[in-house]
Amino acid sequence: MQLLDGKLLSANIKKEIKIEVENALNKGLRRPKLAAVLVGHDPASQSYVRSKIKSCEQTGFDSDLISLDEDVTQEDLLQIIHRLNTDTLLDGYIVQLPLPAHINDEEIIRAVDPAKDVDGFHPFNMGKLSLGLETFIPATPYGILLMLERYNIKTKGKIAVVLGRSNIVGTPMALLLSRKAAYGNCTVIHTHSATIGLTNICKSADILIAAIGVPEFVKADMVKPGAIVIDVGINRVEDVNAKNGYRLVGDVDFEKVAPKCSFISPVPGGVGLMTVAALLLNTMKSYKQKHHF
Ligand code: GUN
Repeated sequence: MQLLDGKLLSANIKKEIKIEVENALNKGLRRPKLAAVLVGHDPASQSYVRSKIKSCEQTGFDSDLISLDEDVTQEDLLQIIHRLNTDTLLDGYIVQLPLPAHINDEEIIRAVDPAKDVDGFHPFNMGKLSLGLETFIPATPYGILLMLERYNIKTKGKIAVVLGRSNIVGTPMALLLSRKAAYGNCTVIHTHSATIGLTNICKSADILIAAIGVPEFVKADMVKPGAIVIDVGINRVEDVNAKNGYRLVGDVDFEKVAPKCSFISPVPGGVGLMTVAALLLNTMKSYKQKHHF
């Protein structure tokens, strides 16, 4: 069994990006810039956004964190989005999800300029993704593709089972793995809460992507010997022995499943860090488009 080391890979990708930024600065160009909009005080969202902003600093990007109260109105949030859309020095931005229940998140995502939508969540960009056209690939599935690529894991002809149909991970992941492209060409089985016979379906997987948000849902009897298991879950479970009262576990029962796998991504230290690296790559892509290189 080999670990898919998101810590190492993301550090390498960030080093590569940093060199690109230095080269751009040497040519007299400004720094790339990413902004993040965070609404409310959800500890997990705060932690993800902090990690995104810190990674900007590490790679030489400018960044802006826009923290808003939980009770911000739809109109005020839309106004901020319009300001970000017209900021000519901003390459891309994200609105951290989930948003509070009183916010219409569909309208918010549609208000983002697709050219700055480095999350790739806008319907225009999602449409392009589903047609196999060039676009911003949502950061988590993009990070998973980078993981496969950097570990030289061939996907062509393999059976990939995707657990979960969120717009952020499961749906784009299933589309990407079935595309006629490098790190695609899989036979994809896309499963969800209404799937019957999940254990047997999972057992057929050469590549199993767990993105359902249920702690340690994938058990050893659901995994084929030699499978590649990618764990997208980041779940906080109570742990009285932990300093902060919780520990992070994935959607996979790592201890039991890992010995059966050829490759497995850990939590923490796996997909989460790749998501941040992929977001930086998307921001760099937008920056390069603006500066025509
Ligand atoms: N919430 C969970 N994952 C993501 C992500 O990749 N982007 C945003 N904006 N919100 C998220």
